[in-house]
Amino acid sequence: MLDKIKALHNEIKHLTAQTADEAEHLRIKYLSKKGIIPELFNDFKTVPNEQKREVGQLINVLKNEAHELIMDLKEQFANTGVKGTGTDLTLPGTLMKLGSRHPLSLVRNEIVDIFARLGFNIAEGPEIEDDLHVFTALNFPEEHPARDMQDTFFIEKDPDVLLRTHTSSVQVRVMENTQPPIRSIFPGRVFRNEAISARAHCIFHQVEGLYIDENVSFADLRQTLLYFAKEMFGEKTEIRLRPSYFPFTEPSAEMDISCTLCGGKGCNVCKYTGWVEILGCGMVDPHVLEYSNIDSEKYTGFAFGMGIERIAMLKYQIKDIRLFFENDVRFLDQFKANI
Ligand code: DAH
Repeated sequence: MLDKIKALHNEIKHLTAQTADEAEHLRIKYLSKKGIIPELFNDFKTVPNEQKREVGQLINVLKNEAHELIMDLKEQFANTGVKGTGTDLTLPGTLMKLGSRHPLSLVRNEIVDIFARLGFNIAEGPEIEDDLHVFTALNFPEEHPARDMQDTFFIEKDPDVLLRTHTSSVQVRVMENTQPPIRSIFPGRVFRNEAISARAHCIFHQVEGLYIDENVSFADLRQTLLYFAKEMFGEKTEIRLRPSYFPFTEPSAEMDISCTLCGGKGCNVCKYTGWVEILGCGMVDPHVLEYSNIDSEKYTGFAFGMGIERIAMLKYQIKDIRLFFENDVRFLDQFKANI
């Protein structure tokens, strides 16, 4: 019995077929109900009990290999309809699966493009920062709660090393090295010591904007942001600026856009107010200019900062910020069309 199996093994290894019929013939010969291999299972009954285990395994291996080889032979002819050649060059190729851009990259690129059309260029700064660039040079008072351990991930205390909590730090980096006119945006990742939920994450992304020149006014700020809102969310979008407070701008404002879902009528996205907040902004505080050796008598400027996740959630109606970080392909695949 063992010799028989061995011989069959050698035999099937060398099987070939030139036509579909030949391949089918082999299938019948070896694999059909009355074929050689199923017949082996009949002989199996006569194998002594102590050999049954070994012989059984060998027959199974033989059966699987024969099946695979003969099916491969048959496949050569399966979809060609052409006898004798294995390949039909006129068949469409197998589609290659393409990836998709991450929604946060899509939105970041769109923000960058919109501001590029207004003459803003791009700069980036380090994610690992110090107190000076994240807080002090931006006019944060010494005892300001944002410096608290609750919000900031401190890496070292002395010398102080921390993860930036906002991209406003890049304003300082740029102003230190450049004299106006400055018209730039700074996209990047920021970190805050916050509990992760559907609405907040300890890592997220912002885009900061800075425009400093002679005679830059609040009207310029408003017009720039109105243009951005209409480009990003559609021509019908309206904006409203509400007075607010940030240490590095005076006056400061928060900007709302008319709700992208209900168009201002009121729904659960805008909590029935018709408006949703998308960014903070203001005129750069003269202290901040002076801190970086920019003449605040000669120059004025505006700044703004927005969360990319927030813009993406509004634009694509995404309800949970954690989806951006889970990399579930069922989520990511939905952005293929937007590349
Ligand atoms: N840095 C602020 C934040 O993270 C956002 C911001 C507000 C940036 C006002 C600005 C600004 O440049 O002028 O919440």
